[in-house]
Amino acid sequence: MKKTTKTEWKPGNMLYPLPAVMVSCGSNPDEYNIITISWTGTINTNPPMCYISVRPERHSYNIIKKNKEFVINLTTEQLARITDFNGVKSGKNIDKFKETGLTPVKTKKINSVLIEESPVNIECKVKQVIPLGSHDMFLAEVVSVSVNENLLDEKTDAFRLDKAKLISYSHGFYYKLGENLGRFGFSVTKKKKKNNHKKKIK
Ligand SMILES: Cc1cc2nc3c(=O)[nH]c(=O)nc-3n(C[C@H](O)[C@H](O)[C@H](O)COP(=O)(O)O)c2cc1C
Repeated sequence: MKKTTKTEWKPGNMLYPLPAVMVSCGSNPDEYNIITISWTGTINTNPPMCYISVRPERHSYNIIKKNKEFVINLTTEQLARITDFNGVKSGKNIDKFKETGLTPVKTKKINSVLIEESPVNIECKVKQVIPLGSHDMFLAEVVSVSVNENLLDEKTDAFRLDKAKLISYSHGFYYKLGENLGRFGFSVTKKKKKNNHKKKIK
């Protein structure tokens, strides 16, 4: 690899790329809201757990803190503009479901709403709220996951998340996902010999 020189920056958040998800919340139609979140991630496999970090001044903050529930809705190329809109406008002043035309659908395991147009909806119950400084971290357990049936391969039933056209967020910009570089473990997997069957026929 080519050598390069480095310059040191003051400490800051440079962990990219990140998801930009739409978090839906609220327990009744007057309260339903959507907030775009990038400070989010998976933190445990069993039980399945994740987090979102939210500034207390956000309209969604008190809704999530009171109800102890929220839904992480994954975002797609088609939803990019709406995702950004929900990250710059506050539910204090507008009904984001009405403004964006997104469809609120009753959740399965919590008392809230998920976003119909999102291909993957992750219902979460808050277990802990950890004040960190600028943001509070909501540690949550995943209690239900809904996925679009059209992402299941008709023949094999495999979940084709690549077909969902998910987006990422990196240093202020939204991106499409790129090419598949290999499956988990590909660095140590032996390559299958190509045209093996042809050799046998010969
Ligand atoms: C890409 C993107 C990522 C964001 N990530 C976060 C985040 O992780 N935490 C947060 O508190 N606000 C985040 N925001 C800002 C909120 O989404 C924004 O302030 C929103 O208007 C709050 O909506 P609300 O007042 O209706 O809750 C993000 C905004 C964008 C555009």
